[in-house]
Amino acid sequence: MSIIDKVKEKAKLNVKIIVFPEGDEQRTVQAAAILKKEGLAEPVLIGKEAAVKKAAEETGADIDGIRIIDPETSEKAETYAECLYELRKAKGMTPEQARAQVLDPMYFGIMMVKMNDADGLVSGAVHTTGDMLRPALQIIKTKPGRKVVSSSFLMDFPDPSIGYEGLLVYSDCVVMPNPNAEELAEIAVTAAETARDLCGVKEPKVALLSFSTKGSAKHELVDKVQEATRLAHELAPELDLDGELQFDAAIIPEIGESKAKGSKVAGHANVLIFPDLQAGNIGYKITQRLGGSEAYAVLQGLARPCNDLSRGCSVNDIVTTAALTAVQAQAEDK
Ligand code: ACO
Repeated sequence: MSIIDKVKEKAKLNVKIIVFPEGDEQRTVQAAAILKKEGLAEPVLIGKEAAVKKAAEETGADIDGIRIIDPETSEKAETYAECLYELRKAKGMTPEQARAQVLDPMYFGIMMVKMNDADGLVSGAVHTTGDMLRPALQIIKTKPGRKVVSSSFLMDFPDPSIGYEGLLVYSDCVVMPNPNAEELAEIAVTAAETARDLCGVKEPKVALLSFSTKGSAKHELVDKVQEATRLAHELAPELDLDGELQFDAAIIPEIGESKAKGSKVAGHANVLIFPDLQAGNIGYKITQRLGGSEAYAVLQGLARPCNDLSRGCSVNDIVTTAALTAVQAQAEDK
């Protein structure tokens, strides 16, 4: 059973409410029907009832018994507007603006999660990453003890000899365009938690990637990764973590052994930390398109689970991301 299959089995054990702000989108209604049928989550679709039902009819999706919520007619809209106003008034939001904003399905969905009317949110089949991230960052905010929201891409390979049972965790490939050393250190530690807590990686081995291995090149960009490695060790001294390492030194045992002798991580890394978003985003897409892996993104460091899809996502991507979101929500029960 792959790591992703195990996550899906776990999702079924304690079914969570997952809200979809893009409830009238065709792939989303199909995914909702599968989630409901397979008991992976209890989906809630946001949108105009007629538009959601039309999308279901056009795709043959059975959405019987799935809740549809239209923000414009929801009795919760006023409560959400009041809460949103309280949260954002210091930033200049007026009550009228809050009232208008909660009618936007994305804001309505985020408010459902904020107010515990849903356990998690999945969107991005239509909206851009920023469209979802900005309200999530503004309203849900970071977990206690975390300063930074970032992401992990779960790179799921058919070959179980790659990484941990066929899984490599890449971070951050979605959120932070140019993290400083302190932020990069937090990303590294949080990605290790994602690998362990969400994916069941027993011993995360975290490599902070660079174009240099252990001082082979001198440059301020390398200095940042070295400093982040030092800070990450301070944040999580028990974690197997090393840097700076080139990609090959991180994952190929013989190269790790020759370039970073004695490292517990080099050659065996299963969590790969990219120095910035350009490297991370390009890196995950190369792996997915040329390396033959599936790729599923989860946000980490947010106080409650909200996850983003690629606009090119398939129905299966939405189902899997919703299952991952549900398992992130289960962790909140502990
Ligand atoms: N962690 C925690 N809080 C954050 C973070 C973060 N990483 N980034 C911004 N914030 C907070 C800010 O402090 C601010 O809070 P406040 O309003 O309460 O003071 C709030 O979020 C909004 O910040 P803004 O400055 O308005 O938003 P910003 O312009 O920084 O945008 C965003 C944030 C959307 C995450 C931006 O960094 C971004 O566009 N990132 C890249 C997204 C992207 O396009 N990714 C690549 C494609 S994804 C893919 O290929 C799968």
